[in-house]
Amino acid sequence: MKISVIGGGYVGLVSAVCFAQMGHTVGLIEIDIDRASSISRGSPQIYEKGLGVLLSKHLEKSLHVSTAYDAIPDTDISFICVGTPEGDNGSPDLSIVQSACQSLGRSLRDKDSYHVVVVKSTVPPGTTEGLVVPTVLEHSHRAGDEIGFCMNPEFLREGRAVEDFMHPDRIVIGSNDSRAGDRAESAYRGIEVPIIRTGIKSAEMIKYASNAFLATKISFANEIGNLCKRLDIDVYEVMKGVGMDHRISPHFLDAGAGFGGSCFPKDLSALIALAQSLGEEPLILRSVLKVNERQPVRMLELLEEKIGSLEGKRIAVLGLAFKNDTDDVRQSRSIPVILELEEMGARIAAYDPQANDNMKKLIPDIEYCSRVTDALKDADACIVMTEWPEFSLLDEEFDLMKNRVIIEGRRILSCQDKEGICW
Ligand code: UGA
Repeated sequence: MKISVIGGGYVGLVSAVCFAQMGHTVGLIEIDIDRASSISRGSPQIYEKGLGVLLSKHLEKSLHVSTAYDAIPDTDISFICVGTPEGDNGSPDLSIVQSACQSLGRSLRDKDSYHVVVVKSTVPPGTTEGLVVPTVLEHSHRAGDEIGFCMNPEFLREGRAVEDFMHPDRIVIGSNDSRAGDRAESAYRGIEVPIIRTGIKSAEMIKYASNAFLATKISFANEIGNLCKRLDIDVYEVMKGVGMDHRISPHFLDAGAGFGGSCFPKDLSALIALAQSLGEEPLILRSVLKVNERQPVRMLELLEEKIGSLEGKRIAVLGLAFKNDTDDVRQSRSIPVILELEEMGARIAAYDPQANDNMKKLIPDIEYCSRVTDALKDADACIVMTEWPEFSLLDEEFDLMKNRVIIEGRRILSCQDKEGICW
């Protein structure tokens, strides 16, 4: 098939590259000139395992990058993969989706055959039918039966996005007419997984409900973990026992500093805002966020319990990314921890294998170390905020500290004398 992908962020770029890998001819449209040119050079601005190799393999062969929408009419189907950042009062800001739809609509004016528009961006239920369809139709001057519309949510995890694209648990295609849905489905031919066909609004909701449920599992594990710590019970042992029930599953029950990233916090806020706008009080969702916001505070309480006032103390913060295998610091639990440490007068020595530069843009005035040992040297305490595998074997390195006061926000260390946030 000939596929166009609109938006060269992590979802769009990964999708474009993977569609090319599946044998399609792909046009990637990215209007940000800097971002487009780094993708064209084969060096994307995001760090994603396996992406660079596939990008270089397909660039200028089956994958073409452009800043304009000119190539859209030559394609059979367009995937909208632009950002939906958190806007006012938790609702997502849909202005980028809207302007992408205007440009997409205009580009379809002269196309004389059927085209399918697929929304991949995470959007609140009703957005595809209420915003995307009318905007594209208005700007294309074409009739409703000449353009088909689908909603196809993505379930990619940062750091494993290529793997997730190629080997998903399921593919969800929401459409209100089978012709459009069939075309979207055929873009995934070759991936052997269940394809769930739903209505458009259900597909939109499946994405939000999936992320909200996964976030709930984490906050649930954290709440049980906080309780376990008081009772001197190992929450990891407990969750292993709980997760072995196939109705629950062992995944996403790792207690710790809480969830970060660009998706869970944003999508939960969007769902809460949606519930509120409907006059519903989303009790569980609010609690999920509340537990998550309290976990970083608990790290600092534990720290103070160990070393007293933090004023003037040197604290090594290991891990800045919101999780391992990414340089993304968006909504990382390290952010509230570092800001509060600064507030308390601590001196911070931070280290992350990938994310130092990104965190420096957000919080410029702390010490960033290029080696873990530089951060640990003479530290009064160390806190581990990201589950980087390279931290797992740290042991003698902690001897560089003034005292071995080690607090884990993620269960990753194997040394003996550490203490976990809730274990
Ligand atoms: C998440 C979902 O997992 C994807 O399915 C979804 O497509 C994506 O959001 C999205 O909406 O685009 P992602 O944010 O990349 O993916 O990262 P996750 O691997 O889900 O981790 C999120 C956060 O939860 C991290 O901070 C991680 O450390 C934390 N986490 C994860 C825990 O604290 N405990 C766990 O058991 C698992």
